[in-house]
Amino acid sequence: MPKTGNWPERRGILVLWMSTVLINVTFVETDGTEEHFKVPVGTNMLEAAHSKDIELEGACEGSCACSTCHLIVMDVEYYNKLPDPTDEEIDMLDLAFGLTEMSRLGCQIKATSEIDGIRLALPVAT
Ligand code: FES
Repeated sequence: MPKTGNWPERRGILVLWMSTVLINVTFVETDGTEEHFKVPVGTNMLEAAHSKDIELEGACEGSCACSTCHLIVMDVEYYNKLPDPTDEEIDMLDLAFGLTEMSRLGCQIKATSEIDGIRLALPVAT
C-alpha cells in the first residue's frame, strides 16, 4: 500500500517553509531612489511596498478593484516569468495612468522564487 502521509501535517511544514523563504525585490521610486529588500514567498508586492513605507496607494487593499497599486516591471525577463494577468487585472490596468506594456498591479504580483531579483518602478502618477 503506498504511503500517503499526513496531509495537514505536511501542509503545515510547507506553509512554515514558504513563510521563511525570502526573495530579493527592488522598488524604484519616482525620483530614482532604489529600495532593496527581501520579502517572504507568498507576499504580494503591495504588501511588500507597505512593509517598507513605500508610497504605493492600494485603495482597494488588494482586491483587484482599483489601479492605484500600478507598478511597472523593469525587466522583460521578469515580466515574462509572471503568471498572465486575469481579466479583472486587465480591466483595472486599463484605468491606470501611464500604462505600459510592462505594467501590472502590485497586489497581483506574488513573491515566488522565480522572480527573485525583480525590479519594480512606481509610475510617475496613479
Ligand atoms: S490595491 Fe486595488 S487593485 Fe491592487
